[in-house]
Amino acid sequence: MLETLTIRTPDDGHLHLRDGASLAAVLPHTLERFGRAVVMPNLDPPLTTVAQVLEYEKRILRLCPPQSTFKPWMTLYLDAHTSPAEIHEAAAEPAIIGAKLYPQGVTTGSASQVTDPLELMPVYEAMAESGLPLLVHGEDPDPATDPYERESRFVDRTLVPLCERLPGLRIVFEHVTTRLGVELVRSEARRMGATITVHHLLFDRRALFAGGLHPHLYCLPVPKTEADRLALLEAATGGEPCFFLGTDSAPHPRSRKECACAAGGIYSAHAAIELYAEVFEATGRLERLDDFAGRFAAEFYGQALNSGQITLVKDPWRVPDHFPLAEDELVPLRAASVVPWRLLRQASRV
Ligand code: NCD
Ligand code: ZN
Repeated sequence: MLETLTIRTPDDGHLHLRDGASLAAVLPHTLERFGRAVVMPNLDPPLTTVAQVLEYEKRILRLCPPQSTFKPWMTLYLDAHTSPAEIHEAAAEPAIIGAKLYPQGVTTGSASQVTDPLELMPVYEAMAESGLPLLVHGEDPDPATDPYERESRFVDRTLVPLCERLPGLRIVFEHVTTRLGVELVRSEARRMGATITVHHLLFDRRALFAGGLHPHLYCLPVPKTEADRLALLEAATGGEPCFFLGTDSAPHPRSRKECACAAGGIYSAHAAIELYAEVFEATGRLERLDDFAGRFAAEFYGQALNSGQITLVKDPWRVPDHFPLAEDELVPLRAASVVPWRLLRQASRV
């Protein structure tokens, strides 16, 4: 008998689905595994109005098979022109669960013109007032800042002052990567949560350079030190409700990864929950996966828990070396390598 693991159907607290043919190519991986996903708005052009977000939601739902119960949790993209009125409109729209801040130039799709995130104070005030959470890419946008210091600099320069000024603002520190970030989330846990990606749990910054440069392991924020990774592991597997699953799965065509200036982003949606299971098992805390993956994000966002379950079996499988992606190819995390846990496919889920 193969070892099995049955958990509540999980939610992905941070996901990039793109649009058009790319959306159609990647969405099935998420539908198979997750009941809901927080869908990021950094399309090109970004989704800066409620109307644009709702149109995108329709394009996603149109690609879900009729029997699917998948629900995208949509987000609005904040930029220098976002008005408090747009925030109130977003907060009143049940499909929208938060608004995302990308400081200028820190990652893919971050031409937001927000060079000092504290410039948007009236917007954050409207968010605090209306209860709409701020989802934040926590990296300092100053081009002079060292990439390894961007997150800690953001904590000091932006997040700590923001927390002091707006005690009522609910915040998700997206893809936290440092011990300092983890500590801030803990100290603000009353109103702050954080997503933790599986890749930041699996490896530290050495992996990018092991035996040569690995563009498919390049993501933003860049993985930090082993000590930071251990802090993330403790946060993810410690049973603290302020830390929850968010893959940050971000598909880029092979031609944008294997080139002179590679784009940031790791694709993990094809094996996301399986890889988290591997990480949790390695810490001896597999029983903590259920809440990290299927409870804490929903509770943070004030949503009901999924009613279904998924089952994983300990039956190693080989990840394909690539998937089709529109006119190009997508090289996934663990390409051509083995993943120990396998998803038991249920015909009713997709
Ligand atoms: C993301 C993407 O490609 O959209 N890239 C990444 O490296 N994580 C954007 C983001 O979340 O930073
Ligand atoms: Zn992201």
